[in-house]
Amino acid sequence: MKKIKTSLGEKKLINKRRLIGSGFMFAACYLLVLLVVFIMIVVNDIHGWVNFFVEQYSDILSLVVSIFFLFGIGFFYFYFEDREFLYKSSNIVFYFSLVIVSVILCYVFGRFVNIYARPYAMFAVLWLFLKNRRQALFLNFIFIFLIFSIDLFANGRSVNADIEAYSTLLLGFVCGTFGVFFANKVRTRSELLLTGVFLSVPTVFIIFFFQIPNAQYDWIDYVSSAGFQILGCVISAVLALTFMPIFEAVFNCLTPFRLRELTSTNAPILVRLNSEAPGTFNHSLIVAQLAETCAVAIGENAELARAAAYYHDVGKLRQPDCFTENQSGYNLHDEITPELSADIIRSHTRDGYDLLVQNHLPKVIADVAREHHGTLPIKYFYDKAMRYSGDADIKDFSYQGPIPQSKIAAIIMIADAAEAATRASADRSPEKVEQVCRGIIEERMDLRQFDECDITMKELNIIKQTLVEALSGIHHHRVEYPDIRFNREKKAVKTEEDHE
Ligand SMILES: [Fe+2]
Ligand SMILES: [Fe+2]
Repeated sequence: MKKIKTSLGEKKLINKRRLIGSGFMFAACYLLVLLVVFIMIVVNDIHGWVNFFVEQYSDILSLVVSIFFLFGIGFFYFYFEDREFLYKSSNIVFYFSLVIVSVILCYVFGRFVNIYARPYAMFAVLWLFLKNRRQALFLNFIFIFLIFSIDLFANGRSVNADIEAYSTLLLGFVCGTFGVFFANKVRTRSELLLTGVFLSVPTVFIIFFFQIPNAQYDWIDYVSSAGFQILGCVISAVLALTFMPIFEAVFNCLTPFRLRELTSTNAPILVRLNSEAPGTFNHSLIVAQLAETCAVAIGENAELARAAAYYHDVGKLRQPDCFTENQSGYNLHDEITPELSADIIRSHTRDGYDLLVQNHLPKVIADVAREHHGTLPIKYFYDKAMRYSGDADIKDFSYQGPIPQSKIAAIIMIADAAEAATRASADRSPEKVEQVCRGIIEERMDLRQFDECDITMKELNIIKQTLVEALSGIHHHRVEYPDIRFNREKKAVKTEEDHE
């Protein structure tokens, strides 16, 4: 108990230090953003920027203060909504890199093409794919306020500049928010490009309404602004597609596009698994189907669950013939000691992790490969050792963990065991499958395998129900075919005659 108290205290202290570190990183990145804005002002007016700073010093001060408050809001948003985000410095670098790239691109397109051609939606769409939807929606507001502040305070205070700044505010909100909603279900690159086109529809209306109060209302102006706005929306999608692989690689993020590539049957490790360990490959396909259904049922990322299940047993590639599903007749375990057998079996989790890390697969998928058996005992070989020698240490016959750290790992741990158990069982009635799944979950709860992932009892119950339905569907009772054969004239031939 004392030990738990100390480790909790230590954890709190570490997290406090991380938070202070994040605060400093936010401050440093804030200065970097100010430097970028400063460079933009200089580029805007290469000869007169000194005068601009002298004459508009109050505007510059307002800009510095507004940007400070905007990032302050960003910091507190993460503090209250997703504190884990702040504990990783790479997340903060990711946030500011995306902000700086988006600000520069908005500046370049606004300055050298047209104010309406700015790729406002790129920031929110990229955040949606690289992180999540909720954060994308909120951070889009901060990003657009940032662009608005730059437009308002760093462009000189003409009436036109003010009108443009306010139109930026509305267009930015609409582009970012609708971009997130439209791109939410997008799974292919061409669909994302189409999203850019659809996105331009509401924004073209906004431009129209902004033109109405204008005394010198001009249709040509409207058409050219609308054209540039459509271009801006499409450019947002194109730039999001261009920058996505870069952010994916640098910050090891997972997008639906990357997950699709990983779950394609052409993915190199899966091709190897299919040819060298076909039994394991087929088992992984069924586990993937089960894991995906369970993930949907409890509101987890279904694509990630499927990908992680495809790769959960790739460690078996080291010695595929040592695993039942790949054996046909010869069994190496008949010739070696139970200790050695257990050692070979349990090493597949670590081998899988190493193989996936070496091949630069996302860490979250490698973690599932390492955690999917937790610290469970390998009962078959423990029992064999006990029968041979009457004395065996359960530690030598247990996986080395760690236990599941995420809900996805917990889902795959259960689905993996449920698939193997029902495949091995002769009775696959829904009652029997229900009994097997309940037993698997209860045993893992007794062995404290779910202590480090935040899965709830309710979710475990949903997973059990989902597995029972899915497994009953996979192994449904087949109607027995009549034992009749036909001859060439398609006349039924009695099977008794056939057998004679
Ligand atoms: Fe396994
Ligand atoms: Fe497995």
